[in-house]
Amino acid sequence: MSLKKTQLKKVKVNDNTNVLFGSVERRSILKATTTFSAIGIAIAAGPFVESMLPSEAAKAGGAPVDVDLSNIESGALLMVEWRGKPVWIVHRNQEMLKFLNMDQQRLSDPDSKLPQQPLYCKNETRSIKPEYLVAIGICTHLGCVPIFRSQVTPNDLGSEWHGGFYCPCHGSKYDLAGRVYKGVPAPTNLVVPPHTYSGDSRLIIGINHA
Ligand code: FES
Repeated sequence: MSLKKTQLKKVKVNDNTNVLFGSVERRSILKATTTFSAIGIAIAAGPFVESMLPSEAAKAGGAPVDVDLSNIESGALLMVEWRGKPVWIVHRNQEMLKFLNMDQQRLSDPDSKLPQQPLYCKNETRSIKPEYLVAIGICTHLGCVPIFRSQVTPNDLGSEWHGGFYCPCHGSKYDLAGRVYKGVPAPTNLVVPPHTYSGDSRLIIGINHA
């Protein structure tokens, strides 16, 4: 099994959000971006371009990606590339975890009944470890890349926003477990990819948890 390690690069998405991006080798981005809609590229141009530079893993044709979690600050998001897709890893803090239980009534599939995740992530946090969400960062409506909005009750998202992912293309909203809210165009929760851990701070994306 060949694992490729990521390198991290911190990028400020907005005043409240620092995002760490993995995979920094600079090659043509065109091949990597063709799997996403033009809308998504336009809306999320900054973070998308940075994150979608082809990684060693992509070059290896979909090999598992080995991620060092120790560099992800509490509350921050790391994006890495796996099989040409952006994969988010969110280091959820206690406040973020608390909010996961507060919005159940407003979620479309709060219990993750639809098969958008491996069985080992069909739980309250949609994860193996509660403090880490691992999800493919592609909106389930038309494939845009949503924006990580960790701030609670920001002016533009309203008093009921407790942090999550906002897709500006058509207004879909997801909570910090990648569960879609009711009344938005996206039909399902974000996809959780196969993943497992090889130690306290080593995540492997692309291999199922035993
Ligand atoms: S692609 Fe995300 S809301 Fe349409």
